[in-house]
Amino acid sequence: MSDLRDFLKEIEDDVVRIREPLSTRYEVAAALHRWDGSKVVAVDRVKETGTRLVGNVCGTRRNILKALKVEPEKLYPRLIEATKNPVKCGGGDGPVKEVVEKGSLKDIPVLTHFKGDPGPYITSGIVYVRSHDGSMENVSFHRLLVLDERRMAIRIVPRHLYRLTQMAKKEGVTSLDVSVSIGLHPTVMLAGAMTAPFGVSEYDVVNNLLGGKLKLTECEHVEALAPADAELVLEGRLMLDKQVTEGPFVDLSGTFDVQRQQPIIELVGIMHREDYIYQAILPAGSEHKLMMGMPQEPRIWEYVRGVVPNVRGVNLTTGGMGWLHCVVSFEKVRDGDPKNVLMAIFAAHPSLKHAVVVDSDIDPYEMEQVEWAIATRFRGDEDLLVVPNVRVSSLDPASDQEHELGCKVGVDATRPLYKDPEKFRKAEIHVSDELRKILDKY
Ligand SMILES: Cc1cc2nc3c(=O)[nH]c(=O)nc-3n(C[C@H](O)[C@H](O)[C@H](O)COP(=O)(O)O)c2cc1C
Repeated sequence: MSDLRDFLKEIEDDVVRIREPLSTRYEVAAALHRWDGSKVVAVDRVKETGTRLVGNVCGTRRNILKALKVEPEKLYPRLIEATKNPVKCGGGDGPVKEVVEKGSLKDIPVLTHFKGDPGPYITSGIVYVRSHDGSMENVSFHRLLVLDERRMAIRIVPRHLYRLTQMAKKEGVTSLDVSVSIGLHPTVMLAGAMTAPFGVSEYDVVNNLLGGKLKLTECEHVEALAPADAELVLEGRLMLDKQVTEGPFVDLSGTFDVQRQQPIIELVGIMHREDYIYQAILPAGSEHKLMMGMPQEPRIWEYVRGVVPNVRGVNLTTGGMGWLHCVVSFEKVRDGDPKNVLMAIFAAHPSLKHAVVVDSDIDPYEMEQVEWAIATRFRGDEDLLVVPNVRVSSLDPASDQEHELGCKVGVDATRPLYKDPEKFRKAEIHVSDELRKILDKY
């Protein structure tokens, strides 16, 4: 099974290595921001702790596809197949147990990213939990605000982990054991961002993607599992009867999210490799947006395929924060197809605000091409779908964030079939083999 270190070797040419020590306060965040969406950043030494750090690992689609070892056109069917067929992970110890200690959060290089942050935030932590009766599991990303040496505030959006906490509370249980894993191979990271059926561990979904090679180890201080190849694991107790103020955190939109009362995790112990690499995800950076959006794309793809047979690609764009904007490229058969496709997209991803559909000659991941399609194939009076007063994302500052109510707009940027296709064809420059050889030399 390959780990974060193996992957970093694989993408060596895409890594910017910084040899000067950088501080956890703004300096590392500034470096991650400098190469956001382009390069992985490796810092040899963090000033405050002397530890190594890496960030932006999944900051490009290219890196994620490389890690998964799948061709782009096979990605969605592969992720859907894995979600439907989780494979139980094997057990056993691994390098994460090189050091097992009581530990302290002050010894970990947790970053303060933005002016106005309430404190240092762990942003790459994947939380594993078992239900109070041990019958169910869940794995998901959660940001953690470090409060002091032993306590963190955890943001829990009402999804599967929230449901497990509600079930436990109902039975009078006051805490759940958790592991928070940091420093993982990108494929394992996906476990934190994918959604398996309620109760199923996303580590088992990822284990399918890894051909059954993902090994989980029992934590030393709590009743929880964690990847044996992780760099660092925080072992904690999620307290169900204590809440603190969490935030304001800079979320996907790049704006400050509101403050909320959220539960606490108390640190019980730490396991880590001797020379562990701390992994960071820049809030509102490309990696944050891609890891949020990409795991939703297979569902949109599946819904759209229920309406039209040939779908070239789905892009929850990073400009739309990986969450609010979607482009779908498909082969149009009838003039009525695009609006049905738009409705399928909105049904598949209820947080979405704007969707654009384009013909299959347009690459949905090339926004210059998408804008060209809007410029040349869209008419506002005929090709617009407006859905007022509908559920949207709580992350959109232009909407009613409290009630998650807003407006969805669909743009049909496909060419009308009743018009001569030649009018919409992009002119090409002929390039002979001989000329190509000459040009390729430069
Ligand atoms: C980098 C990153 C950070 C995230 N932070 C949070 C968070 O703080 N709280 C939260 O509830 N979800 C967060 N999410 C989203 C969930 O982890 C994600 O939707 C996950 O699939 C939910 O798991 P579930 O379907 O098992 O509930 C984050 C996702 C990513 C990629």
